Amino acid sequence: MTGSLLITRIGELVTNAPAGEAPGPGPFAVLSDAALVVEGDRVAWTGLSARAPAADEVLDAAGRAVLPGFVDSHAHLVFAGERSGEFAARMAGRPYAAGGIRSTVLATRAASDASLRAGLHRLAGEMLRQGTTTFECKSGYGLTVADEARSVALAAEVTAEVTYLGAHVVPAEFGADVSGYVELVRGPMLEACAPFSRWVDVFCERGAFGADEARAVLTAGLGRGLMARIHANQLGPGPGVRLAVELGAASADHCTFLSAADVDALASSGTVATLLPGAEFGTRQPYPDARRLLSAGAVVALATDCNPGSSYTSSMPFCVALAVREMGMTTEEAVWAATAGGARALCRTDVGYLAPGARADLIMLAAPAHAYLAYRPGVPLVHAVWQSGRRVSAETWLAFAAGDSRVVAPGGHGGHIVEGLAFELVAAGPRVAPGLPGDHPLEALVK
Ligand code: NIG
Ligand code: FE
Repeated sequence: MTGSLLITRIGELVTNAPAGEAPGPGPFAVLSDAALVVEGDRVAWTGLSARAPAADEVLDAAGRAVLPGFVDSHAHLVFAGERSGEFAARMAGRPYAAGGIRSTVLATRAASDASLRAGLHRLAGEMLRQGTTTFECKSGYGLTVADEARSVALAAEVTAEVTYLGAHVVPAEFGADVSGYVELVRGPMLEACAPFSRWVDVFCERGAFGADEARAVLTAGLGRGLMARIHANQLGPGPGVRLAVELGAASADHCTFLSAADVDALASSGTVATLLPGAEFGTRQPYPDARRLLSAGAVVALATDCNPGSSYTSSMPFCVALAVREMGMTTEEAVWAATAGGARALCRTDVGYLAPGARADLIMLAAPAHAYLAYRPGVPLVHAVWQSGRRVSAETWLAFAAGDSRVVAPGGHGGHIVEGLAFELVAAGPRVAPGLPGDHPLEALVK
């Protein structure tokens, strides 16, 4: 889009507009009978439809709801292989254990760059069509210097929020030599991965890494200029949350088994509690108690944890529905956590809200209110998506998911991309809908 776009007659506009002078998203807020103006890649104006300024192009929302694009702050998208058998066994009563990660590690090491890239693009395309306009992506299924480095390099092709997770588990070849592996992770592996990464993460859990090992990895990452986030208290009580707060991590993720001291620590710190209900769904564990965290005053985010083991969903709407139904969140709290909360967990002040100056990342629902995301679970309600002011067409995401070579990041290759998903088709050509006719009904989703 070159000129300005006015979207009018929005039934409910979720703004999360900044409170006062503080940059970035504010508390949950909505406007009814609203309008919004996009100019370039930014939101230029929001207000009542009746007071909307003129613009080059006008789109009638016909009463639909508009929300900020979802911010998925926790995902593991660079992997090969699949573990549906493990999922089926869990549903038949077998417990989830951290060791399943190793089977994905073997498949990932054996995979070509092209097949890893294809899988990553397919998942990123899935996310985009479900309204996720910013996402984080971790390494963690390579666990050698070369395999972790290629994982973060691939992730950096599609997002600016790349997380180095060399400390996911101790790989089998290290046997019981945990400290030997930690030295590799905080030394040569970190050196190889840091240039592609913004974040460092550790799976701090029984069966993965203890508090001292996690601290050693995270402090090395911080020393190398990365910011910290932690997998904490997922499978049982443990030191992860308190370590996150001690180190000033942006986020402690999972937070399923929390003591009163953990809740207090989160509530009195800037560390976001990121809840990942897809993981509890996929492992038949109890859901985290969001109500307890919110009542204590902690900041809560929701993310998918998309990965082939514990949570193979890329759907933020699904997570919102689970959070409302199973975790004691109101629809307002869940939508805030999936947008503004994710932005807070990634220390982003440009996304997660819709007010002048915000990046123009928006979702239009085929529904009049945000509550429909939980009220109509499992229904594809995302009617249209804009990313950085550009409407995402079905053609674009299908081509993207298919790894079509005409889809490139803005700025081309080699440069540091701001947000890799703002792709566009760069050459005219036949319609790109591999295996599908050009008029496939999927296109109607985002037309
Ligand atoms: O966040 N907890 C550690 N990592 C993933 C699971 C990874 C896997 O099982 O492959 C998670 O749940
Ligand atoms: Fe995870």
